[in-house]
Amino acid sequence: MNKNFTYILAALFFLTACSKKSSSNGDMSSFIDTLLSQMTIEEKIGQTVLYTSGYDIITGPTVDPNYQEYLKKGMVGGIFNAVGADYTRRLQKMAVEETRLGIPLIFGYDVIHGQRTIFPIPLAESCSWDLDAIERSARIAAIEATAEGVNWIYAPMVDVSRDPRWGRVAEGAGEDSYWGSLVAAARVKGFQGDNLSDENTVVACVKHYAGYGASMAGRDYNTVDMSLNELWNTHLPPFKAALDAGSASIMTSFNDLNGIPATGNSYLLKDILVDMWKFQGMVVTDYTSINEMIQHGYAKDEKHSAEIAMNAGVHMDMQGGVYMNYIKELLAEGKVKEADITHAARKVLETKYKLGLFEDPYRYCNAERERTEVFTQEHKEAARDMARKSMVLLKNKNQTLPLKKGQKVGLIGPLAKDKYEILGCWSAMGERDTIPVSVYEGLVEAIGINQILYAKGCDIQSDDRKGFAEAIRVAKQSDVVVMVMGEFHNMSGENNARTNLSLPGLQLDLIKELKKTGKPLVLVMYNGRPLTINWEKENVDAILEAWFPGTMGGAAVADILTGAYNPSGKLTMTFPQTVGQIPLFYNHKNTGRPYDPSNPELAYGAKYWDVSNQPLFPFGYGLSYTQFKYSDIKLSSDIMTKNTPIKISVKLTNTGDYDGEEVVQLYTRDLVGSVTRPVKELKKYEKVFLKKGESKIVEFELTVDDLRFYNHKLEYVYEEGEFIAFVGTNSTTQMKSKFDVK
Ligand code: BGC
Repeated sequence: MNKNFTYILAALFFLTACSKKSSSNGDMSSFIDTLLSQMTIEEKIGQTVLYTSGYDIITGPTVDPNYQEYLKKGMVGGIFNAVGADYTRRLQKMAVEETRLGIPLIFGYDVIHGQRTIFPIPLAESCSWDLDAIERSARIAAIEATAEGVNWIYAPMVDVSRDPRWGRVAEGAGEDSYWGSLVAAARVKGFQGDNLSDENTVVACVKHYAGYGASMAGRDYNTVDMSLNELWNTHLPPFKAALDAGSASIMTSFNDLNGIPATGNSYLLKDILVDMWKFQGMVVTDYTSINEMIQHGYAKDEKHSAEIAMNAGVHMDMQGGVYMNYIKELLAEGKVKEADITHAARKVLETKYKLGLFEDPYRYCNAERERTEVFTQEHKEAARDMARKSMVLLKNKNQTLPLKKGQKVGLIGPLAKDKYEILGCWSAMGERDTIPVSVYEGLVEAIGINQILYAKGCDIQSDDRKGFAEAIRVAKQSDVVVMVMGEFHNMSGENNARTNLSLPGLQLDLIKELKKTGKPLVLVMYNGRPLTINWEKENVDAILEAWFPGTMGGAAVADILTGAYNPSGKLTMTFPQTVGQIPLFYNHKNTGRPYDPSNPELAYGAKYWDVSNQPLFPFGYGLSYTQFKYSDIKLSSDIMTKNTPIKISVKLTNTGDYDGEEVVQLYTRDLVGSVTRPVKELKKYEKVFLKKGESKIVEFELTVDDLRFYNHKLEYVYEEGEFIAFVGTNSTTQMKSKFDVK
């Protein structure tokens, strides 16, 4: 009997014996202890190595043959970008049948807003203010991903993003830490479900830890230098929320933070993550961020970078190859400890155990599920609903929308028939071109082809005006013009920063020409970030921010344009008037010389010469086809103590002509703090449905815990003193009442 075969038999025996175990933590640690006791140092290092399998949508998997050799030698613990039940089964078979111990692989993938059924980009979803829908979107992504062999998802991205130049704002939940925390938790719950070992749940990977959203000047991968106060109050809470919700893994970020690259940053990875937050899960790098410590000027070579990362607490090296190449040597030189290598391997093995891979390595390679559970009618309906909920009505002069019955619609613009850009960045296995529903198709379905005239007008970006004349002709023959315009999908997402945030190319020029026809103009926008649409805001009659709405996007746009759905989305990122105002976010500090909008000429207020400090559209802003009136703000008491919360209520009335939903928002201001405090902070919200003419008292309870923040000693405290509670329809609300905390 050949030696390898003996090993395999032993491994299989071992696995069978272990498969009888239940998945409690005690069982897990004794199982892993036994496994680790049989592993060589090379095999332990192997578990810490993660490699990509390229996947070409046309030719299928493209695996480097050398890397399969590593795999068979037990030198690889996980693979990412390998998709498909059969393909992942084939790779898994190599790991299980051809390596000495038969340890299964984990399969990772960037499922950012859907696997096959693509939902709106995360920034859009966050504008729904509907956590159930957000959780459901993540659940469906996990169902589809696991049906295609994936059991580890690189999401949610929870980086608080306040700079719309940064392309990755598309992947997050916007500028607010409190809202970002709620979204982070909902998405983790959706991905991971109730039990990680179910066949349709995945390990989530919250990213990018930490500070990445503050990359200087919005340029990706750029330096981050921020106070610890800012880090703790603004950027860390969504990570904590995702981990509290159970995220079983976390990804480091590319940036350096206060001089130390995040991937080699033991303050982040040990002091905070392990010592303070007691995180028990797995830490993976973002791609080759270990190696990139060389370019950062923090490691002198690859070997040094591996040493730094291992000592800082990184468990898995994504694609860098430096753990594979140098950890053994570093161990021999006494530069890393065997205990740390074993610990890193343990974390990877535990993750596999939680997924149930030791019970059944092929649990997620189920070709039957792949045929029946992906891109189902139910998933498409959910994607359409999420897309409608995510869209934000920015303007609606003279009730231009919804379209009136019988109106002839001139549908114009480079994105009107688009089925490609519509999916946005990071669209996993979502098929572009054929499957998505365009606005044109959505409208044809809703109002019939005879009601629609179409002209492309111009490209997203080119100097070609040839289509203008046809577009103007179409506009003149129409009762209302609907223009679908925006960005390319890859103007946002990783490494897609912009310095000019207006509509690209000649799109605005075309709008200006169409304006001359005197027809009512509706602008529907696909974009991955806030845009500086000043002229459009002044001159177009209605604007619908549709973001990149995903597979069912065009149907969702049609639902809103025709009034089949009344929009209720609210912005989670401020729209600036101009790039020069960035960073611009609602919860800034007051400064010693605050700008006074009622007195903009004030000589020494913190302001610009040429533009006011006001945003174009503020955080929390969004219209409905109906109108809401706020009145009667009341506090149950104007004194709050540790044991006596206060209740804040407001009367909300639907005064318009439609049933509709409103996101009622509660903000507070802490007037005097031991460190300076923001001018407003979102504390609570409620999404309320009211029939036309109906009223409701909306009530929020506020406790001292809602008022906590990290002080200069980084203690999480509330402080006594005077506060203001603001309630209203967006972050500029001035409807307020004072209370004291004693
Ligand atoms: C991105 C991550 C992503 C990883 C794996 C990196 O370039 O920053 O967000 O998860 O690639 O694809």
